[in-house]
Amino acid sequence: MSTSSQSYPMSGGDDQHSYIHNSSYQKAVIDGVEEKARQYILEKIDLLYLMKPDHSTFTIADYGCSIGPNTFHAVQSIIDTVKLKHMKESQEISLVPLKFQVCFNDQANNDFNTLFRTLPPSFDQEYFSVGVPGSFYGRVLPRNSIHIGHTSYTTHWLSKVPEHVCDKKSLAWNKTFIHCNNLIEEVTQAYKVQFTKDMSVFLKARAEELVPGGLMIALGECFPDDVAMYETWSGIVVDTIGDCLLDMATSGVTTLEKIELFSMPVYFPQYSELKRAIEQNGSFTIEMMETTRHPLEAMQLTNDFITSMFRAFLSTMIEKHFGDAVVDELFDQLAKKLLKHPIDFEKCKKKMVYYIILKRK
Ligand SMILES: C[S@@+](CC[C@H](N)C(=O)[O-])C[C@H]1O[C@@H](n2cnc3c(N)ncnc32)[C@H](O)[C@@H]1O
Repeated sequence: MSTSSQSYPMSGGDDQHSYIHNSSYQKAVIDGVEEKARQYILEKIDLLYLMKPDHSTFTIADYGCSIGPNTFHAVQSIIDTVKLKHMKESQEISLVPLKFQVCFNDQANNDFNTLFRTLPPSFDQEYFSVGVPGSFYGRVLPRNSIHIGHTSYTTHWLSKVPEHVCDKKSLAWNKTFIHCNNLIEEVTQAYKVQFTKDMSVFLKARAEELVPGGLMIALGECFPDDVAMYETWSGIVVDTIGDCLLDMATSGVTTLEKIELFSMPVYFPQYSELKRAIEQNGSFTIEMMETTRHPLEAMQLTNDFITSMFRAFLSTMIEKHFGDAVVDELFDQLAKKLLKHPIDFEKCKKKMVYYIILKRK
């Protein structure tokens, strides 16, 4: 069973603020690295070894699937590639026809209704789908049951706010900052410790769920080792959200006390930190670990795009701590501040997109 963890799903439903309509930034990365997974699966996986002789169900899990549409795209691409591989191998040796099962995992309060309501129309011919509620910082699926696991933009969400960062008596107190922007050394350390613990739990659980030879595909963002969050455009956006909250405390919409006790359980590791966390696990071989620029990085993202994207993934967290009356005004203020002080993307330091394929030993 999964261990309990703090849970802040993306905005549900399908209105203008929902994750469905505000997840193209993540989708661009999934699209950008799709070909690498295709090549790897076609060239390297051994279907005969992966599947038991009498077993015809190929099982895929998407950990932290949210409500779509990105998850549908990611799993369909894996299915198409495995089918192609299966067809090619069947020409040489006789293989049983494959059926596919997809396990969509996310926190129990994820909007699974919208997820299943918006499944692509062709899904019933392609795969059986299962919803798997529970934190991926713990076991969510049976031992030895998954052939390919996938996860995108998920392990940035820590299992909890690191200890002490909301404790005003601690050196690791994050003051009025609302995330790990790397400006206070002790805060950064607290986040690093939590990230390393969480990655260890995540990988240990996946190692139990994946069959030997099974693949875990993971993508997300990290920093070059010499870059700090506050120097990147997304770091600047979250610091600006913090500034808006401070303005709102001045005008009485929220309080300084509430801001001082808030820090987001979200963390972006440095590249070497991420690599170390994976190597420490020992149950996987690293088949591929590459970094690239975000496909949309060259574009000047519009203020509307930025505001909507951050609203879709932060509003449940903001609502839980500050109350739902704050959300509209906060993101209105963010839009105004970004208009007044546009982000200079040229000047910002760059984050990187990472793309990892792990193979269960
Ligand atoms: C930014 S969304 C990414 C969604 C999707 N993978 C994509 O690429 O569009 C992050 C997702 O991770 C989920 N998540 C965060 N922590 C989780 C946990 N401990 N267990 C399961 N899901 C989690 C969130 O609920 C959210 O749906």
